[in-house]
Amino acid sequence: MEKINIAIDGPAGAGKSTIARLVANELGFVYVDTGAMYRAVTWSILQLHLQPDQETDVIAVAKRLDIRLVPGQEGQQVFVDGRDVTADIRSAAVTGNVSRVSQIAEVRRILTDKQKLLAQDKGVVMDGRDIGSHVLPDAELKIFLTASVRTRAERRYKEVRDDRADVTLEQLEREIALRDRMDEERETSPLVQAADAILLDTTEMNISQVVERILELCRAKVGGG
Ligand code: DC
Repeated sequence: MEKINIAIDGPAGAGKSTIARLVANELGFVYVDTGAMYRAVTWSILQLHLQPDQETDVIAVAKRLDIRLVPGQEGQQVFVDGRDVTADIRSAAVTGNVSRVSQIAEVRRILTDKQKLLAQDKGVVMDGRDIGSHVLPDAELKIFLTASVRTRAERRYKEVRDDRADVTLEQLEREIALRDRMDEERETSPLVQAADAILLDTTEMNISQVVERILELCRAKVGGG
């Protein structure tokens, strides 16, 4: 298929990364998980024993870090200054602090510039919160993926219960609702559906149905639809 850029945005736990990776594989495109970049900065801040709300420190770290996203068999691998942090950036500590880091306007500017560069040759499926609205406003296809808070908590529960044996579904629901609020209420590039994005509510859809729907939309776009 002709190379286009596809932006996939939506709230936490809507299935963006799974869907974006599968769509990229089907099309032979590159998958870029922008949340991993915000997580990489947050991981470094915690590693350095700095405070995620100390803007000057966070900005300095974001400027200096060499963050690399490497497409791999099992999805994208993430390297920070040459160290593989793919698993580390999914820790509860990083997840609990990443919204603070992603609220800092200058951090968003630094990471947005990196994201634009990654998409400049097209053929990218990029997922995040502000891709269609801000990072790639000219993306040929924009999807806003969502699902009910309950459904997203249930999906996350299946993913994390091995690592967080004591976690409850209700706790995950609260965490997801809180993260939604922080993502939606921040001043710089809040989570918002771009005017030209197509809304896909996946509450009642399985993964392959969502992937197929997006591939159909791609074909329609490329075919002049
Ligand atoms: O998709 P995720 O859970 O890995 O994202 C981690 C955090 O980063 C989430 O709280 C929202 C933020 N984020 C963002 O603000 N903008 C993006 N483009 C991607 C993620």
